[in-house]
Amino acid sequence: MSGAQRLDWSSRSVESLQGTVAVPGDKSVSHRSMMLSAIAEGTSHIRGFLEGEDTRATAAVLAQLGVWIQAPSAGERIVHGVGLHGLRASDRPLDCGNAGTGMRLLAGLLAGQRFDSTLIGDESLSKRPMRRVTDPLASMGARIDSQDGLPPLHVHGGRPLHGIRYELPVASAQVKSALLLAGLYAQGATEVIEPHPTRDYTERMLAAFGWPIDFSPGHARLEGGHRLRATDVVVPADFSSAAFFLAAASIVPGSQLRLPAVGLNPRRTGLLEALRLMGADIRIEHQAQSGGEVIGDLVVRHAPLHGIELPQALVPDMIDEFPVLFIAAAVAKGRTVIRGAAELRVKESDRIATMAAGMRALGVQIEETPDGAIIDGGRIGAGSVDTHGDHRIAMSFCVAGLVADGTVTIRDCANVATSFPGFVELANGCGFALGTAG
Ligand code: S3P
Repeated sequence: MSGAQRLDWSSRSVESLQGTVAVPGDKSVSHRSMMLSAIAEGTSHIRGFLEGEDTRATAAVLAQLGVWIQAPSAGERIVHGVGLHGLRASDRPLDCGNAGTGMRLLAGLLAGQRFDSTLIGDESLSKRPMRRVTDPLASMGARIDSQDGLPPLHVHGGRPLHGIRYELPVASAQVKSALLLAGLYAQGATEVIEPHPTRDYTERMLAAFGWPIDFSPGHARLEGGHRLRATDVVVPADFSSAAFFLAAASIVPGSQLRLPAVGLNPRRTGLLEALRLMGADIRIEHQAQSGGEVIGDLVVRHAPLHGIELPQALVPDMIDEFPVLFIAAAVAKGRTVIRGAAELRVKESDRIATMAAGMRALGVQIEETPDGAIIDGGRIGAGSVDTHGDHRIAMSFCVAGLVADGTVTIRDCANVATSFPGFVELANGCGFALGTAG
């Protein structure tokens, strides 16, 4: 699975970036569309499904649990739902690969089944904290054994669940979603209150599949005992994948890129606002509604950037975009200060430490703080950086190479396929100079 094969890339400076870049489907929406279709009654058709390792791992897990899933073409899935109680035990562990979203949401879903399951993941996922889901699920009546809070997770079946009212200690859409999925199987009401609103795809999609749910920013409540009805899902292009191109075209002089039909859920677009605060020229065109989500073309032109104090309210809305914001800050004039982002330390890698080490290797002035960083913009030098197997770190340093004084070598890039299959081809198609490093 992911990360098995070591792959190093090189990125060099270029004249400008031009063209239209169609980024693949949204990872969060793809995971959820697969899970809800699997436990719905009837056949759901998913279009725009992300063909990444993370989302394919979730599909493989559900297939292992007895769901018939057809893949007539790339990005298309026909899921023959088995109903809320139709999943069947697997005698093998369920491999979530690199996907925190897959493992945490499945933990919630599996807590309500009549059978036991074991969830495993790759080296990176095996280091990620799971108590944030297992503790509140335990207070709903679930029993999940972990290895001192880490995967593998052994989820015991046949446990009657009851709803709880839970105030999340950290803003996390994954934890919220795990509880809501367990809540489908629980007696009574499950209510989740967030310290800051996070992406609400689970809530929106549950409603689209016919489950009664009340939700507003920062709050969601549902009751057990209903049914999910199959529905068709159109997955928008992933804003988090578009983010690399937004930053890239902003920093390379003379660039202009169009990113069509990107999902613009406001809980995802914090980077757009952050880059605009730094002086970026990004416009939204052809805004439309698609499957209950706002989508639009993003048109980005080069603009000189300046440093900012990042408003902390933006942090949850750009949680996956910090690595590339760090690169934009390294090129911006003046100082950028990032605070309130301690969650970055428990992502696919410790993203504060990994970015700081990589940027220092390229001669960037960066001071790491417990919950962020202080970055003084200037030039980016040549050098070699280690991604620690983190897909978003790898792609961010590909962006750094576009404006570096010499070649940037990026070590351990295989996991880019977890979220962004075809990244190198798409990037080189609009003017990046990415190659494999020997
Ligand atoms: C996700 C939520 C975020 C995000 C992750 C995907 C989701 O994590 O970082 O890539 O699909 O719910 P947290 O909710 O743990 O912050």
